[in-house]
Amino acid sequence: MSLIPEYREDVPRVERFNFLARFSHWGHTVTFLLCLFTGLVLFLDGVDWLAAIFGGYRGAGLVHRIAAVGMTIILVIGAIFGYKGIIAWIKDILRFGKNDIIFIMKFPFEFMGFNVKMPPQTRFNGGEKGNSLLTPTCVILLVLSGYIMWFPAVFPAWLVRIAYPTHDIAMVLATFMVCMHGYLGSFHPGSGESFWGMWKGTVREDWAKHHHAIWYEETYGDKAKAE
Ligand code: HEM
Ligand code: HEM
Repeated sequence: MSLIPEYREDVPRVERFNFLARFSHWGHTVTFLLCLFTGLVLFLDGVDWLAAIFGGYRGAGLVHRIAAVGMTIILVIGAIFGYKGIIAWIKDILRFGKNDIIFIMKFPFEFMGFNVKMPPQTRFNGGEKGNSLLTPTCVILLVLSGYIMWFPAVFPAWLVRIAYPTHDIAMVLATFMVCMHGYLGSFHPGSGESFWGMWKGTVREDWAKHHHAIWYEETYGDKAKAE
């Protein structure tokens, strides 16, 4: 396992994510992780050591609700001010095609360290398109079921009953995805440069050309410059 690649200022860089996207992503990450660890205190038996970090079981319940409200505010801010970015994101997901399928099929070999030639990718590669569908769906389910569990008197009993397993299943799925995603977006050799795109906003131009050739060409290539 290698560390995140060095941030190089001496080579050409191109913008990948604007400030709002980065603010929403990291704000969401912090509140998601707080919800996860406090949620685990409520979910698992015998995790007194984890509960102690949040001031006991009642403290964990309180931090869970505060983080949940924080997450909701960040999602709403991101949706209102970043709706154009969200539409562009959805359009990119809908471009899912042959190159993405080949990417996903070859990815396990690349993951294991084999030198694999991937087909050119759009703004998000096949795996990221999958992540863009699965993880936000789980988060939406977590938010909806979470508020139903929080205010059971407001909702019909059958909805409250299904909210609990929904919350738990979405938590397990989202956590699995976030573990994979967090590793791929930081320490994984080759894709680690993407971390800087999400942290500082830019990635190395040569990396962008190599990993997201279609996106690079459409955004920064000769044709894009001529328009
Ligand atoms: C807006 C977002 C969310 C809201 C409103 C919310 C709300 C709630 C509420 C009201 C409870 C019951 C608490 C109690 O019994 O004291 C709960 C439990 C729980 N939450 Fe959340 N939550 C949210 C997001 C999340 C996220 C992002 C995760 C994890 C990734 C998560 C994981 C859990 C778990 C594991 C439990 C325990 C469930 C059980 O005991 O079966 N929650 N949540
Ligand atoms: C755990 C630490 C995390 C790290 C290191 C991380 C890293 C990154 C990076 C580098 C990107 C940009 C990838 C690109 O260039 O396209 C990204 C995108 C994204 N992140 Fe995260 N992230 C983390 C946590 C999360 C969490 C908690 C969520 C949601 C629950 C999340 C959801 C997403 C989504 C939906 C995208 C866009 C699709 C994709 O690129 O897969 N991330 N993340």
